[in-house]
Amino acid sequence: MKVLVTGFGGQLGYDVIRLLEQQGVECKGVDVGDFDLTDGAAVKAYVTDYGPDVIVHCAAYTAVDKAESEPEICARVNGVGTINIVRAALSVGAKVVYISTDYVFSGDGDQPFETNEPYNPRNVYGLSKVQGEMAVRSLMTRFFILRTSWVFGRNGKNFVRTMLRLGTEHPQVRVVCDQVGSPTYTRDLARVICDLIPTEKYGIYHVRNEGYISWAEFAEKIMRKAGLPCQVVPVLTSEYPTAARRPLNSRLSAQSLKDAGIHPMPSVDSALDRYLQELREEQILF
Ligand SMILES: NC(=O)c1ccc[n+]([C@@H]2O[C@H](COP(=O)([O-])OP(=O)(O)OC[C@H]3O[C@@H](n4cnc5c(N)ncnc54)[C@H](OP(=O)(O)O)[C@@H]3O)[C@@H](O)[C@H]2O)c1
Repeated sequence: MKVLVTGFGGQLGYDVIRLLEQQGVECKGVDVGDFDLTDGAAVKAYVTDYGPDVIVHCAAYTAVDKAESEPEICARVNGVGTINIVRAALSVGAKVVYISTDYVFSGDGDQPFETNEPYNPRNVYGLSKVQGEMAVRSLMTRFFILRTSWVFGRNGKNFVRTMLRLGTEHPQVRVVCDQVGSPTYTRDLARVICDLIPTEKYGIYHVRNEGYISWAEFAEKIMRKAGLPCQVVPVLTSEYPTAARRPLNSRLSAQSLKDAGIHPMPSVDSALDRYLQELREEQILF
């Protein structure tokens, strides 16, 4: 099996390549320097030349707030870019893994979203990820769509690292307490990707660490586990305005993974412990 992974310079792509290499799988990680997703001819030329059996498409425009002021660029990267990946995959007979998000849903209510619930994105980024999903679903059959949420990994900016920085700089930090979801460690998500790609278990999956939690509760865990004395002050979303509207309910049901017989994702606590250990070992923060 030969695997091409886009977004190698980002959080998830980096860990997918690390795990594939550990497993001895032939693989290549690519980023903007190798080809721009929005350039269909460049994508096709690269994919044809490498000839993968699987493309794990982690690259995306992920600046959720900035997307509100540049919707065309966001749609081009996440929508058109994904069409380009799918067309190139079809031309070499490769399967595709598309990484999507809880932001494709409305975020209404307090029940976990199942994989078959209707799209209803509430911000530009969410809409662009729906466009990416639609490209995959309408053009091919051998695909895995993995929706995830609140991602953190070694290779990039994320909420955990922001809290660790703020926790060393300030005695107090205000964090929203009415948005609830599940954080996701890229190493755990990478493991599910690597479990799925050799199979024919195509379809849509929700993949996130186990347990629902608010951002404020998550911040509290981060401070305590990192031994930082910073106080977390819970605030409402209405008190913390951002350019992009964010869903209050980011709960993704884990039923799809269970049904497929994939080993369940570890708890949020376990994920955070291992992530902090990884940062310490690599002397990234402490
Ligand atoms: N982060 C989250 O909380 C979250 C939540 C749910 C779902 N997701 C999804 O999970 C996937 C992985 O997220 P992540 O956090 O690993 O993302 P990330 O760290 O932002 O990495 C995305 C990568 O895509 C690359 N990229 C952007 N535009 C490109 C283009 N036009 N051509 C080629 N490469 C391009 C970026 O390169 P540059 O850095 O050079 O721009 C970056 O290396 C994405 O599909 C994202 O939508 C993420």
